[in-house]
Amino acid sequence: MLRALRNHGRLGRLCAVLTASAGLLTLQTAPALATPDTAEASGVGAQAPARTPLKDLTDNYVGSAVAASALGNEGDYRSVLTDEFSSVTAENAMKWSVLEPNRGQYDWSGADAIMDYARQNGKSVRGHTLVWHKQHPSWLNNLSASELRSAVKNHITTVVNRYEGEIRAWDVVNEVFDSNGIRRDSIFQRKLGDGWIADAFRWAHQADPSAKLYINDYNTGWVNDKSNAIYDLVRSLRQQGVPIHGVGFQTHLSIDYSFPGGYQSNLQRFADLGVDVAITEADVRMTLPATDSKLTTQADYYERLWNACEAISRCVEFTTWGYTDRHSWVPNTFEGQGAACLFDESLNPKPAYNRINPTA
Ligand code: XIL
Repeated sequence: MLRALRNHGRLGRLCAVLTASAGLLTLQTAPALATPDTAEASGVGAQAPARTPLKDLTDNYVGSAVAASALGNEGDYRSVLTDEFSSVTAENAMKWSVLEPNRGQYDWSGADAIMDYARQNGKSVRGHTLVWHKQHPSWLNNLSASELRSAVKNHITTVVNRYEGEIRAWDVVNEVFDSNGIRRDSIFQRKLGDGWIADAFRWAHQADPSAKLYINDYNTGWVNDKSNAIYDLVRSLRQQGVPIHGVGFQTHLSIDYSFPGGYQSNLQRFADLGVDVAITEADVRMTLPATDSKLTTQADYYERLWNACEAISRCVEFTTWGYTDRHSWVPNTFEGQGAACLFDESLNPKPAYNRINPTA
């Protein structure tokens, strides 16, 4: 059934592209037939042919991380997001420290605003993230092991339940291995022991049996100690019948480093375990200032990511960590770096966008 829908999607994509090309032909020939005056009066040729939005180029979900504030305050930001993308991820609004800064006191405002936007505009939602060693509330630090276990269970159950049936996929655990492939030394690992990850997936599945449950991490696009550790964990969890359905590849890249070697075959080996794979947080940063040459290299990287996901039948999502340089975590995180997104600060498509969108 799903396969049939996806195939239908591919057909839809083809039709959309053909329609766009047909439009292009009409617009190109019309002004030649009209005098300049009539062309101006009728508006013929006055506007650029519409491009096919990214979301209609593929049967995969095409997403962006979003901040509730920008969504609420900036009409142009909201409008390009709505036109181009089929999925949204809350950049921060669903993280534990935002949802429950004090024990038992919840603030759902940002998360609810994103869900409302998604409902009103027919967008799919990726939930991000249930358990992470960053951006969790400080009150967790004072809990005993058994209290922490209850708190994690309660958190997962409460959040997943609230949006049950409405969140397509959840990043259940985020960044749980270090670069050596050792379990990260977080309060969860220290106090709860190895079994906490399987439990987190079981609790999430109980709260929403329809949500696809993911493990998500960065620097996992090539074969290395960390990606191997995730591979082994996923295989073992699947063997134990733990409800884990996907592996998320954050894919925060920089053109100062070479493109991850064997990216597609690495994702494919995870897919071959019988899980979905998703590009969950793609961006491609550069040392500022941006130049034409750097933007061309960035376009190469984005194109390779897009094509890798297209080539893997179980790659279901291509999400970028913000879609415009106006709102990107990069300049605040990596000193002297930026210009990492598909659209510039004025929401104009950059060379990377034009590369992955043949109708642009
Ligand atoms: C980042 C946000 O973009 C920032 O606004 C926030 O200050 C820190 O977190 N990996 C993840 C994301 O899984 O949640 C992070 O998001 C970026 C790295």
